[in-house]
Amino acid sequence: MEILLCNSRADAVALTAELIAARLRATPAMVLGLATGRTMEEVYDHLATSGAPFDQCTTFNLDEYVGLPPDHPQSYATYMRQYLFDRVDIDISRTHLPDGMAEDLVAAARDYERRIAAAGGIDLQLLGIGASGHIGFNEPLSAFRSRTRDKILTPTTREQNAGMFGGDPAQVPKRALTMGVGTILDSRELILLACGSAKADVVARAVEGPLTSRISASAIQLHTSCKVILDAEAAAELQDIDYYRFVARNEEKWDPYRQYL
Ligand code: F6R
Repeated sequence: MEILLCNSRADAVALTAELIAARLRATPAMVLGLATGRTMEEVYDHLATSGAPFDQCTTFNLDEYVGLPPDHPQSYATYMRQYLFDRVDIDISRTHLPDGMAEDLVAAARDYERRIAAAGGIDLQLLGIGASGHIGFNEPLSAFRSRTRDKILTPTTREQNAGMFGGDPAQVPKRALTMGVGTILDSRELILLACGSAKADVVARAVEGPLTSRISASAIQLHTSCKVILDAEAAAELQDIDYYRFVARNEEKWDPYRQYL
């Protein structure tokens, strides 16, 4: 795992977007795994103006609420069109989100896994982290080997996401269809971005362990190509922060991104 400590939220967002843009420029036909949420809004703003080529890539989103149709204002399908897909040259037929409206959610989940496999697997998966320690909507006690399935959202998550539902947690759907932790770990590369003091505790638990399904994000420790990009506030509770800073400053491969660190 590589920890990239950025001076500000703006730098952390810009670095994340720059890395994704660089991958797209190098391999335009790549398979990109996408996340939603407040943190990613700024990443997509940056990406939309980066000039990165989206015309050949295929995308898979981590999750979608159960019971919200794709044209619902709070669905993640709408979110993705609003923040990214309508602003770049992407072929919308190559964008995928789980079908939260499926009558048979088990079959829909299986189909999502099949579509990811048919695309050749995910090259780069973008991740945020929730206050409950989730990646995707893998709430506490999600098996590290879990695949796409529907999960009940924790009260913590419904509280966290209430802002997108008029501030009322009761309006946040109770369930979501989400890639599993195992699905995420199968991606060839992971980038997790977290910003702000509200994430400091859960970031430290995910990054420095112990490995536990109580904090699904701790599973990223099992991945062999994982970057965690943090602003100073989100990094505030890391115990070995001086070491991570030393590594980042002395890694030659980070030279092009030195301005952000
Ligand atoms: C959403 C998702 C979630 C969010 C996480 C952080 O697709 O996968 O794991 O990344 O809840 O959300 P924000 O950025 O709103 O704090």
